[in-house]
Amino acid sequence: MEKTIKNVEDLYAMLDSQFRASEQFWDPFYSDRERPVPFFHNKPDENLQSYLSRGLIQPGRAMELGCGPGRNAIFLHRNGFKVDAFDISQVAIDWAKERASELTYNIHFQCQSVFELKPNEEYDLVYDSGCLHGILPHRRIQYLKMIYSGLKPGGYFGLTCFAPGFGDVGGPEFNLSDWDVYEVNSMKGGLAFTEEKIRYLLSDYFECIELRMMNEMDKDSDLFGVPFLWTSLWRKK
Ligand SMILES: C[S@@+](CC[C@H](N)C(=O)[O-])C[C@H]1O[C@@H](n2cnc3c(N)ncnc32)[C@H](O)[C@@H]1O
Repeated sequence: MEKTIKNVEDLYAMLDSQFRASEQFWDPFYSDRERPVPFFHNKPDENLQSYLSRGLIQPGRAMELGCGPGRNAIFLHRNGFKVDAFDISQVAIDWAKERASELTYNIHFQCQSVFELKPNEEYDLVYDSGCLHGILPHRRIQYLKMIYSGLKPGGYFGLTCFAPGFGDVGGPEFNLSDWDVYEVNSMKGGLAFTEEKIRYLLSDYFECIELRMMNEMDKDSDLFGVPFLWTSLWRKK
């Protein structure tokens, strides 16, 4: 039978098919570990460290989405969390596993798309550093629902994503709207979110605990911090 749209999954598949598959971008991206990519360094986000040091979050079960080579998952494990971390890139997951095994850390890293996950009130913390802003707008619906379902009552969601107006750093060059994405058939390196848009997307599910720009960290710091990302912490309603 010809391709037919009968349900939402069919609609998602049709819209996905207009774009390159994520792993086709990310596998080559991670293949050269020497590239000067700020998040290739094994340092956690400064905001994540700050949530812990201020007691805003406590050790428990954590899920990291789009974990890349594992820098935040490793930090969470080191700070007493039991961590499940997922990424669509096998190359990134291999690197993350290598890093963790060198440190003899037992972290569950798995190559899997976030759209295949079906957690059920299992996690105290879900963390996303740079995954949501690379997800196609229509997939966001399912993504946020999955995070909500995966969190225990009162659990926390930490999110960092591109802020608008920083095209020169190579991220969200054109400040595309969700509609634009489907007109130009690209996210041009990732979508930038205004504060209003972040609050609009998340506030049905979560109460905002903190939303601020990431603090820029010195090259010699043990923490990762760049000035073009929002950081935020949310609590499940
Ligand atoms: C900007 S990178 C950030 C990596 C990591 N969080 C960090 O900050 O070091 C975004 C990551 O999201 C992953 N990703 C994109 N789409 C995904 C999907 N559908 N499922 C799982 N991971 C995905 C990419 O492979 C990539 O590693």
